[in-house]
Amino acid sequence: MTAKIIDGKAFAADVRARVATHVSRLQAEHGLTPGLAVVLVGEDPASQVYVRNKGKQTKESGMLSVEHRLDPDTDEATLLALVEQLNNDPTIHGILVQLPLPDHLDSDLVINAIDPAKDVDGFHISNVGLLGTGQKSMVPCTPLGCLMMLRDHHGSLSGMNAVVLGRSNIVGKPMAQLLLGDSCTVTIAHSRTKDLPEVLRRADILVAAVGRPEMVVGDWIRPGATVIDVGINRIERDGKTKLVGDVDFASASQVAGAITPVPGGVGPMTIACLLANTLTACCRANG
Ligand code: GUN
Repeated sequence: MTAKIIDGKAFAADVRARVATHVSRLQAEHGLTPGLAVVLVGEDPASQVYVRNKGKQTKESGMLSVEHRLDPDTDEATLLALVEQLNNDPTIHGILVQLPLPDHLDSDLVINAIDPAKDVDGFHISNVGLLGTGQKSMVPCTPLGCLMMLRDHHGSLSGMNAVVLGRSNIVGKPMAQLLLGDSCTVTIAHSRTKDLPEVLRRADILVAAVGRPEMVVGDWIRPGATVIDVGINRIERDGKTKLVGDVDFASASQVAGAITPVPGGVGPMTIACLLANTLTACCRANG
């Protein structure tokens, strides 16, 4: 079998186009411009690339994009004061504090200082609780993007066996909640799971978010399964830097029914969903 490739790049372009259409309608009919503030502390190279891309795509969708770049040694009080200022700024509807923060800053404290209504990452403890209890919340962008691609591919996910490999707060746990919300039977597996290949082979839907380059091989995948690869790992191969997922694409694509590539799968969907969440936050704030 050769898997169908789920084209996240094209899907994300479509989501961004739909967001841009809504934004121009909001402006024309209500004089409203959704605003997203991104806060970056320090100079982590990968975070700088993400923040630049977020700013660029926010502007391209017609929204207001504001960036705050702070020194790596910024103290907690300064960062919390900035968050408070953004919470009170009526032109800002979404606030994203780029993670990871430098070690001397308490990420939980900072994230929970964001107004939950402006928490477009969906990381605030209130949004985590709302999602966990099936109530209206801000949904974390990467799992939301994965769910959109799965719904598009399958229609209903009801009754399917879903295995989420990875238990992070950003991807694994919210992904499991979303799949449960769509009536899947959900297993969360991780690097310490016993008989991992056997557990993964039960999956009709496999979401790999474990952060280990090419860990999941074709032999661990149920024939015909849908594989969503959240991993973005930089490796050196043949003297070149290469981007690979958590799934070994060459062997997995021979077994799976459908698979997301890296790059061009989940990655572009994350920013598209961030824009969609910012638009949602703006609409909710203005009734
Ligand atoms: N770092 C890596 N992914 C993310 C994300 O989705 N949101 C934030 N705030 N930081 C990240």
